[in-house]
Amino acid sequence: MEPVGIGLLGIGNIGKEVFSYLRGVPDVRVLRIARRRVNAPAPAAIKKLVTRRAQSVIDDPAIDIIVEITGDAERGAQYILDSIDSGKHTVTANKEAIAVRWREIMALARKRGVSVGFEATVGGGMPVVRAVQRHDANDEVQNFAGILNGTCNFILGRMKEYIVRHMDDPHIQKRSLPLEDALAEAQRLGYAEPDPTMDINGFDTKFKVAILANLAFDSYFDPNDIYCEGIRDLNQRILASDFYFLHHQRYLGGKYALKLAGVAERTGRRPTLRVHPALIETDGPLADLAAVDQNFNALTLNGRRLGTQFIKGLGAGPKPTAISVASDVREIAAAVLSSSGAGTNAGPPVPSARRGGAPGNFDRVKTRGFIRSVSPDVKGIYAKKLDILARHKVNVQSVVNIKEFVYGRDRYMPDYIEIDPAPDGAVRDVLKAFGRLRGVRDPMYFRILEL
Ligand SMILES: NC(=O)c1ccc[n+]([C@@H]2O[C@H](COP(=O)([O-])OP(=O)(O)OC[C@H]3O[C@@H](n4cnc5c(N)ncnc54)[C@H](OP(=O)(O)O)[C@@H]3O)[C@@H](O)[C@H]2O)c1
Repeated sequence: MEPVGIGLLGIGNIGKEVFSYLRGVPDVRVLRIARRRVNAPAPAAIKKLVTRRAQSVIDDPAIDIIVEITGDAERGAQYILDSIDSGKHTVTANKEAIAVRWREIMALARKRGVSVGFEATVGGGMPVVRAVQRHDANDEVQNFAGILNGTCNFILGRMKEYIVRHMDDPHIQKRSLPLEDALAEAQRLGYAEPDPTMDINGFDTKFKVAILANLAFDSYFDPNDIYCEGIRDLNQRILASDFYFLHHQRYLGGKYALKLAGVAERTGRRPTLRVHPALIETDGPLADLAAVDQNFNALTLNGRRLGTQFIKGLGAGPKPTAISVASDVREIAAAVLSSSGAGTNAGPPVPSARRGGAPGNFDRVKTRGFIRSVSPDVKGIYAKKLDILARHKVNVQSVVNIKEFVYGRDRYMPDYIEIDPAPDGAVRDVLKAFGRLRGVRDPMYFRILEL
């Protein structure tokens, strides 16, 4: 039997790995490759298949499966739609295209009777898309929480390591690692993109939460409706003092690990979906998640009957991602070979294109944790903060001032206010009011993750 014809759109980090992986698979053959720079240096085996015209690859009648790995959110989405429209099964690693254009893509795939493989969009080499998609058929997902961005996890891990290593050094502030330096190190090691904005502002995690939520709750959620904070965005950033407060025995003594979490939970009629830095108890029910370090990813998923499922693995990088792409390709190819060929629905089932409406309102969900802000050493500043908290009906448990970290001539110092459970929207109003206080900087809320 003739091998199944494959067309690659993109031959970058992932594409090269997919190409070399698929060369060892007898059931498939890569016939054409589209890229922008056709004259770029490449091995002869790639060069002879390359064209600048992606459409000619999509239209090639000898090709059954198109693999879109361009990394271009807009064009990539159009390629996916064009290839589905021409009756080709389509595999992609493009999380933004899948998350944002989900309804169009899934509706068209259903209409045209072709498969869409997108395992590589979430969790690199971890089979999380399969786990959620297959799980959903038999059981009701109650919630899931994931560490879905290896770049952020690496940065947070390095910042923590520096603090823990120099914990009792009297010059701890000088020995600590600022977020910018940890990010530069991640870029040097290839764990962060040259432009890391989408990773550190939480958007990458937001697209992944959208994709998993669409599968878990069997309907579409617009990523723009997902509450999203990053480890550094327009409004806030993680500081080295945060790790000192979290890990020094004088303060929280390592009770919590700080992670960028993507969370979905059935809180009412509609699930709430959110991305934010979260404190995860190291000795509690989510201890497995708290222990995920370096550039690893993980997902914990709770089903009504099944209970907890936990998956950990490498969430990015050419090899793990190529394996996920290849597993979709092989699943579809096997189905194509055992049926009557392209145009028949093969491989992974096409998910629902049903609109799920807006997610539940996170403002009303009660959360608890610590509010950090940095203030000059002036009289009355704490009274003003406590007054704001009282006005917003947010109860205070304790206030801790971190004297080991002092910034500038005005002796700015971070403090951490522990609060009782309160509606998340009310806590965010407190942060806004803190930000308006004269001299007060960097207000940020560290929510304790509880599912
Ligand atoms: N890197 C990871 O660890 C990782 C993990 C999970 C998912 N992904 C996803 O995998 C995809 C590919 O990532 P990558 O790291 O391989 O990207 P990359 O190294 O930048 O490669 C992109 C490739 O696509 C080609 N390309 C870009 N725009 C194109 C267009 N409009 N038409 C035709 N070809 C085009 C480029 O052509 P030239 O070579 O000629 O410039 C290049 O070959 C992205 O969607 C990314 O989000 C990556």
